[in-house]
Amino acid sequence: MLQGKTVLLGVTGGIAAYKAAYLASALVKQHCSVEVILTEHATKFIAPLTFEQLTGNRCMVDTFDRNFSHQVEHIALARRADLVMVAPATANVCAKLAHGLADDMLTTTVLACSCPKLIAPAMNTGMYENPVTQDNLDLLRKYGWEVIAPASGRLACGDVGAGKLPEPDLLLQHILRVLALPHDLEGKRVLVTAGPTQEALDPVRYLTNHSTGKMGYAIARMAMLRGAQVTLVSGPTALEPPPFVEVVPVVSAQDMFEAVTSRQEPSDLIFKAAAVADYTPADYSDDKVKKKEGDLSIPLKRTQDILQYLGDHRRPGQVICGFSMETRDLLQNSTAKLEKKRVDMICANNLKVAGAGFGTDTNVITLITRNGAEELPLLSKEEAASRILDRAVALL
Ligand SMILES: Cc1cc2nc3c(=O)[nH]c(=O)nc-3n(C[C@H](O)[C@H](O)[C@H](O)COP(=O)(O)O)c2cc1C
Repeated sequence: MLQGKTVLLGVTGGIAAYKAAYLASALVKQHCSVEVILTEHATKFIAPLTFEQLTGNRCMVDTFDRNFSHQVEHIALARRADLVMVAPATANVCAKLAHGLADDMLTTTVLACSCPKLIAPAMNTGMYENPVTQDNLDLLRKYGWEVIAPASGRLACGDVGAGKLPEPDLLLQHILRVLALPHDLEGKRVLVTAGPTQEALDPVRYLTNHSTGKMGYAIARMAMLRGAQVTLVSGPTALEPPPFVEVVPVVSAQDMFEAVTSRQEPSDLIFKAAAVADYTPADYSDDKVKKKEGDLSIPLKRTQDILQYLGDHRRPGQVICGFSMETRDLLQNSTAKLEKKRVDMICANNLKVAGAGFGTDTNVITLITRNGAEELPLLSKEEAASRILDRAVALL
């Protein structure tokens, strides 16, 4: 996702410096060019050679090192960088960057950078909570830095509290959020429903369907990467929630209906990708349901139609998108659904096509709007999510 991008990774003299090696490696796997600058003290914790082997680029420490190209290296690097990440950032480097000091290769280069800058402070809890450090972090925010909050837990010094460097994968996710895709959904609210719902028949059994939530989660993640503020209302799934997305877990269709309709802030874009169980037990209680001796059947009633409700109660300017699963007459049935539910787009799956539908990592979708139908080829669910978002954005 980072092909053609250059990340400048600054590593400072903290105990968590080793984690920066995992981050450098993860960035390279995203096809990113990674330039690493270590502070002199960082070299006490991890060797430049480690980063050189991982990134294929020379690792820099000394501003006055003349052993490379004729350009003024810190300025050339600052121009090349699409993003700066300082991780781990010592209390010392946070203070220097906040006050514009430039007394080594890292601080000098970063001072010359105009690209997005992220910093992950990592230190002993006392150092982190010290008002001086907090003021320095506030100053960095004021100067446009994104400060990544440290994790809490047992620190290397034995203290328990805030100050741990977040895991490399979370740092990578922060970088992806800023850099991976153009932010054409910046300032937009996106609501996605995903997964199955479950209708309890009794304390042991429930009605559900085969939805895994993969398609809805992919839409939520791609919308987040495009800068949207995303809420994901999810039935029970085995999936890792996408980072930087507000996840509202629900179980039943009624829970999902309430979670979707009780939102205070109206969404600009809504994707109803959840496969809601169609039926729920009707008045299931011993008082109301008269059972004959030995009759184990459970009376059912239809669950609330969330998409229909959203279409009927549309807010001005909202774009609403539903999904349909068909085994025949895909175009005809999905176009009828577009009209009946009063929505803007239907993403139709033909369950009989290999690689489409529940559980797979791929999908074959036809996008149906009032302007016509577009059949997409077999795509990964992330690629399909991007195409769905492209179409929905055009309708905004
Ligand atoms: C074993 C050890 C671990 C350290 N860990 C941290 C740390 O996690 N965070 C921090 O801010 N300073 C830590 N320090 C202190 C810094 O190394 C020290 O402030 C140094 O001057 C930082 O240099 P730099 O900011 O130029 O990398 C540690 C020092 C030692 C000896």
